[in-house]
Amino acid sequence: MKKEQRGQWGSRFGFIMAAAGSAVGLGNIWRFPYLAGENGGGAFIIFYLIFVVLIGMSVMLTEFAVGRMTDTAAVGSFKSIDKRWTFAGVLGVISAFFIMGFYPVVGGWAVAYIFKSATGLLAAPDVIGDSFGAFITNAWEPLIWTAVFLFLNVVVVVRGISKGIEAAGKILMPMLFVLLIIIIVKGLTLPNSVEGLKFLFTPDFSKVNGEMLLAALGQAFFSLSLGMGCMITYGSYLKKDENLPANTFIVSGLDTLVALMAGLAIFPALFSFGMEPAAGPGLVFVVVPTIFAKMGGIGTVLSIIFFVALFVAALTSSVSLLEVAASYFIDERGWSRAKAVVSVSAVMIVLCVLASLSLGVMADMPIPVLGVGTFDLLDILTDKIFLAIGGVLVTVFAGWFVKKEDLEREITNNGTIPFPLFETWYTLIKFDVPIIIAVVAIAGIMGIEQQAVMIFGLLIIRFLALFSKKL
Ligand code: PHE
Repeated sequence: MKKEQRGQWGSRFGFIMAAAGSAVGLGNIWRFPYLAGENGGGAFIIFYLIFVVLIGMSVMLTEFAVGRMTDTAAVGSFKSIDKRWTFAGVLGVISAFFIMGFYPVVGGWAVAYIFKSATGLLAAPDVIGDSFGAFITNAWEPLIWTAVFLFLNVVVVVRGISKGIEAAGKILMPMLFVLLIIIIVKGLTLPNSVEGLKFLFTPDFSKVNGEMLLAALGQAFFSLSLGMGCMITYGSYLKKDENLPANTFIVSGLDTLVALMAGLAIFPALFSFGMEPAAGPGLVFVVVPTIFAKMGGIGTVLSIIFFVALFVAALTSSVSLLEVAASYFIDERGWSRAKAVVSVSAVMIVLCVLASLSLGVMADMPIPVLGVGTFDLLDILTDKIFLAIGGVLVTVFAGWFVKKEDLEREITNNGTIPFPLFETWYTLIKFDVPIIIAVVAIAGIMGIEQQAVMIFGLLIIRFLALFSKKL
């Protein structure tokens, strides 16, 4: 299909907002703060930053280059260069379905909390924790919000690349920055807020172990939307004269900035009110509103702002996940965009129902053998295995199965833009990145509780590889 027919980004700013919109999401505002909290703050953040710079940026540039070089989405990219690698693209599409099996659930919580903040949630600070527990374990209420959230995704993605995804990113991303800055300013001006800064920026290296490193690596992949073909797909809609290294730098820089901003929005205020940092996934839904409740009237406004920001961040990310899955059916099966988007989201809503119920009604019925519920299964499989292995696959593919000259030509736009780091990048993706990921993954998998889930994930990948030519 010709580039114009597939759709294309309208402007450089639009692409950057869309790609940054994909990267900046629940990973930055919901997950990064609680992972940092659970893993001792500063030390986690240092390893996270090292992984972003060394591995994340290299993988992102690889994905942009492979995507634009082949002009097709994830599966087609691998397939058009080497048929045996089709499974790597298919793994990405499966990851998109799996992440979209729980992401809209949390996105729905964010939408719900915009309304709850406005309608009296903060009036009784002591029961905010209980009410969150009651809300997510309820059978129907979270599902309705999940459906609302997923519906908004469909509305954006059906409109296509420049009119839908790009248009949404251009409005929502700048808005997100403004909202976060308002909250940071308030947090930093509270008494004792410097304790929060100390927690974020003083590393406690006694907390470093294999599991923590895997958490930091998985988070780097998740947060930058890597290892599942998303940036391949977004890269395939890029014009040939765009500067790929510069875009990589800007997109990953913005993503890291927003993660740190989320930390700054939460921890100074949290310490100022003498609360605990290690609060798990409930951190932003329990601790954050509790902090706002203690601020009096202005707290209600800030809480609404915070959850609007969370919702906006989640929406621009989940549209990219929906796009990865839908683009497979559009590019490879020739479906119309509308048919692809609607069918794909129908499957996603089923997964979301199971994931949401697994936190409440079905909490006592974990999946046999694996021992976890659907929500946790989808989360662990993607975050801890699929994305990291997807990262190994795309770098090994580019490093060993794509011609070096082709990569160089793509990345330097036929020699018209200089990229002095080309050799460094090439060595990194050919050797270092796959090796580092393998070492961290093995160290992490050994320490993890859910080993059955890990083995299950590896089996899925092995199975896909076996059938690679038929895909
Ligand atoms: N990067 C998104 C976030 O931080 C999640 C995501 C992962 C989106 C993979 C697309 C692909 O929330």
